[in-house]
Amino acid sequence: MQSRALPGFRDFYPAETTLRNHIFAAWRAVARRYGFEEYDGPPLEPLKLYTDKSGGEIVEQLYNFKDKGGREISLRPEMTPTLARMVAARAQGLKKPIRWFSIPQLFRYERQQRGRLREHFQLNVDLIGEVSPLADAEVIAVSIDVLRELGLTEEDFKVRLSDRSVMKALVVGSGVPEKLLGEAFAACDRIDRESGDVLVERMTAAGISQEAAAAVLDIAGIRGSDALLEALAATDAHADVSDQLLHCLEALKSMGLGGFVEIDCSIVRGLAYYTGIVFELFDTGRSLRAICGGGRYDDLTRDIGGVDFPAVGFGMGDVVLAELLKERGLITDTTQRTSVFALAVTPADVPEILKLAHELRDEGLTVEYALKEQSVGKQMKVAAGRNAQVVVIIGEAEREESMVVVRDMPAGTESRIARELVIKQVTGLLSRD
Ligand code: HAM
Repeated sequence: MQSRALPGFRDFYPAETTLRNHIFAAWRAVARRYGFEEYDGPPLEPLKLYTDKSGGEIVEQLYNFKDKGGREISLRPEMTPTLARMVAARAQGLKKPIRWFSIPQLFRYERQQRGRLREHFQLNVDLIGEVSPLADAEVIAVSIDVLRELGLTEEDFKVRLSDRSVMKALVVGSGVPEKLLGEAFAACDRIDRESGDVLVERMTAAGISQEAAAAVLDIAGIRGSDALLEALAATDAHADVSDQLLHCLEALKSMGLGGFVEIDCSIVRGLAYYTGIVFELFDTGRSLRAICGGGRYDDLTRDIGGVDFPAVGFGMGDVVLAELLKERGLITDTTQRTSVFALAVTPADVPEILKLAHELRDEGLTVEYALKEQSVGKQMKVAAGRNAQVVVIIGEAEREESMVVVRDMPAGTESRIARELVIKQVTGLLSRD
């Protein structure tokens, strides 16, 4: 007997599905508010799509295998390479900038832990064909507004913002050879997960000097634009290297979202394809892993599809987000309510009940009734158990007089009204709250 789902995979019972839909509804509503259109791609892709460009941990976590035709394929661990392929394939026909979003289910063979599973749903919001930092600010604003839509505030989360070109200037300026930049970035990316000694050891083993390795950790500790500019001034980096980042930050401030954002040089992102601004969203207590991560990847459509489109976007997973919403008490009721229970007093009343129930459903109400003969008492119990707000009752007398008994469940009151007025009465009762 196979009595459990695979480790790291979830069964979505109705309560979990309701929660998932609640999150998806906020994702869709906010993305559309910014003019993004929904798209999707295949859950299986050629393995090469990921091994060539994603880089880092994600490639070690692939669910890959050979299909029956001998093709090397993989379940999608992320959406960005699929998006780059799709956009490149229709490059000429698409109006720029392209604003697209998607909610794929993704698969990564990860070590299962809090906030990390082997499948998750991820909102992807990407803006393609625009180099202006206003595009970066736009997608970051979407990520913030999604969380605001779900009830989270400045007290609950922060966007940690950085820029790989700025980080490159700082890291190379501190004596790390350019070809070892990846090693230095990997150390910054792990700064919350591993001790400084271990990170220095790893960097020196890769060929970075002890002094430069220590400087990399100092750089990762930089917070705020003043400290960043001060550190940049001490290098011989081009004065405008931080322009994109600062412009993006200013734009977010103009939108009134400045309080959510902080410059944080420990953010470099684990994926290989980012080229500029990068960001991650974390809960303020940092008790959870990143809720969201993204950035600019100006070379990916060229590398995957041979067309040159600058791009910026993010992925936001449902797992950490749901944990945070639960922690902050922002998920109150995940049960679906039945609005109306239609009760037949005797079997002879059933046809009238079916007719009335169907008319109420046509009005868009959620209506249930007993599917077999049951006593009035038993039916009332079922109605209460389903949380019905209204019970409509038809017995022999009601049928003869064209009347219906309408019971207001929260108030515990009943009234007897004419059959033709029932729909109006019931919808009125249900629109109270
Ligand atoms: P990522 O940082 O790998 O980025 O994933 C983004 C978010 O997805 C994470 O912050 C986390 O919330 C969620 N996530 C990732 N892996 C797991 C997992 N195993 N279990 C639960 N949640 C997970 C990307 O995937 C980029 N492709 C995002 C992007 C889009 N960049 C530009 N456009």
